Amino acid sequence: MPRQPSIQEIEHGGDIHLATLEARNRILRQPLGLRLTEEDTRGEQSQRHFVILDHGRPLAGVVARATEPGEVRLRQMWVEPDLAGMGLGRALLEGVLARLASEGIGQVVLHARKPVLGFYQKCGFREEGPEFTEVGIPHRRMRRQLNPERQSPGCHR
Ligand SMILES: CC(C)(COP(=O)(O)OP(=O)(O)OC[C@H]1O[C@@H](n2cnc3c(N)ncnc32)[C@H](O)[C@@H]1OP(=O)(O)O)[C@@H](O)C(=O)NCCC(=O)NCCS
Repeated sequence: MPRQPSIQEIEHGGDIHLATLEARNRILRQPLGLRLTEEDTRGEQSQRHFVILDHGRPLAGVVARATEPGEVRLRQMWVEPDLAGMGLGRALLEGVLARLASEGIGQVVLHARKPVLGFYQKCGFREEGPEFTEVGIPHRRMRRQLNPERQSPGCHR
């Protein structure tokens, strides 16, 4: 685990992006008996891809899709399983939220798997709307308001 996690926005289609597709398939799909599909990755060339890198290897990642002016949806958040629970997820979210806030984004939404609601709650997200099923498992929609003036929105500890 890097001492100072370095959060980077990566190019779609490059080697690091290809490594994130492998990780997304292995971490977000295979445990559910699924595979990452074309539908999962459709339109991603116009979405933003953020990672924590360690010597060129992505250890965690998330995709950001603009939904409407001032709002972004985060999707496909993952951390390498052998590094889970060490703060990488929080570091990645903090870094991405700070960047989005500095760009004037005021609202961030996501679809959280039920078992990880607590992680997003700790990072300031709140549930909205009813439970629903996605990739065969229960999810809740969550939202966090960002203050564009604040460079570092932070997560609760
Ligand atoms: C969910 C995930 C992104 C969290 O990343 P992480 O690096 O393990 O989390 P962190 O170590 O940064 O945890 C930050 C805080 O959230 C808490 N947390 C982490 N996972 C949690 C969970 N599943 N439920 C409740 N709290 C959780 C941690 O305990 C920590 O709180 P603390 O500082 O009070 O101890 C990661 O475990 C993961 O990739 N899981 C598998 C894929 C997945 O489910 N992705 C989400 C799809 S919606």
